[in-house]
Amino acid sequence: MPIPIEERADKIREEHEFLKGEMGKLNYMICETVTPENFPKWRLDLLWLLRDFLNHLQKHFDLEEDGGFMSDILDVAPHKQHAVEKLATEHEEMVKSFSGIIASLKSLQEKDDDRIADICERIQVAVEMLKAHESAEGELIESTYLQDEGAGD
Ligand SMILES: [Fe+2]
Ligand SMILES: [Fe+2]
Repeated sequence: MPIPIEERADKIREEHEFLKGEMGKLNYMICETVTPENFPKWRLDLLWLLRDFLNHLQKHFDLEEDGGFMSDILDVAPHKQHAVEKLATEHEEMVKSFSGIIASLKSLQEKDDDRIADICERIQVAVEMLKAHESAEGELIESTYLQDEGAGD
């Protein structure tokens, strides 16, 4: 039995809220001053936060992709296929970005300011991409269900 559309939409909205909170934590940690003393703790905390974040993000994408809102949208608004495909491609790109960042942080064994700055910048870019993605997604969901549902479109 598939999960009913409304329940799925609620769950996705809930997840978007949760992810916003997690992005806030990431932003906070990349603004922290890293010293030789706090480097090991900073690195491990950030590494684990990123791992949990990526895992959660992938589960979120599963929910959206596998019989999730993406197929719901295509059912009611087939002309939005391009927008849906763009979102799916962005999912792949974001998984790649966060996986790459995790690998870089994992290999950072000693405090190296240039590499730390690079990692923090990449996190910032990935978080901004996710924010833009979620907002485009939110608009697509709202516009589809508000305008297209039941209208035959
Ligand atoms: Fe998405
Ligand atoms: Fe999403």
